[in-house]
Amino acid sequence: MILRIHPTSADASRVLAERILQIAGNASGLVNIALSGGSTPAQMFRLWASEYSARTPWERIRFFWVDERCVPPEDAESNYGMTKRNLLDLAPIPPENVFRIHGENDPASEAQRYAAQAECLIPGTVFDIVLLGVGEDGHTASIFPGQETLLTAAQTYAVGVHPTSGQRRVTLTGQPLIKASRLCFLAAGRSKRKVVAELSALSGAGPAIWVARNALHPVELFTDAEAGALLRDQPGS
Ligand code: 6PG
Repeated sequence: MILRIHPTSADASRVLAERILQIAGNASGLVNIALSGGSTPAQMFRLWASEYSARTPWERIRFFWVDERCVPPEDAESNYGMTKRNLLDLAPIPPENVFRIHGENDPASEAQRYAAQAECLIPGTVFDIVLLGVGEDGHTASIFPGQETLLTAAQTYAVGVHPTSGQRRVTLTGQPLIKASRLCFLAAGRSKRKVVAELSALSGAGPAIWVARNALHPVELFTDAEAGALLRDQPGS
């Protein structure tokens, strides 16, 4: 686990944006990135679109999603909608480079459709970059504790269920997650102290830890001092 801890969430977001630019710059062709949703990435997306747009080869980056809530794109819960508001509408991204999960469709059918699309468009279904968040319960993507069968599922995308709301989600499963060329976790804020400490030490249980522990390539954790407060010798500890 490569830990990149910075004073604020904005600093961590900027370092992650720089890392994405570095990866895209080193790539000779298309870059297939899978984005997570939730609230944390919004700041990073806005900074990417405002401060790094001119340096980004948008024409070579194809946007996929790690997961999507099974709601229409205009729903406040939509990960695509959040990304559209904070990134897609703010940068010169070719619409043909955006491959959203159709949250408005039947979950199982959409998981199959999107898996087939990803398998067709991405060689070996190996994403160049997967951007992940982590929940306080240790989930990542939409693979929640108690649904660990999704970590070893044969399908590329499957249906997860939020444990408290019962909301269904289409999610990338464990095997394509751990195959990704680069796994980048972004976590910020005091509420993530425990999971960040566990993730950085690869200790404990939960889907996020399993993914980080079984990843085929080095995993990078971008975080801030608030979330890193339990890490020894770190700012804010
Ligand atoms: C989602 C995300 C999910 C998210 C974590 C952290 O659809 O919600 O893909 O895995 O990354 O729940 O969410 P926050 O950034 O809101 O804390």
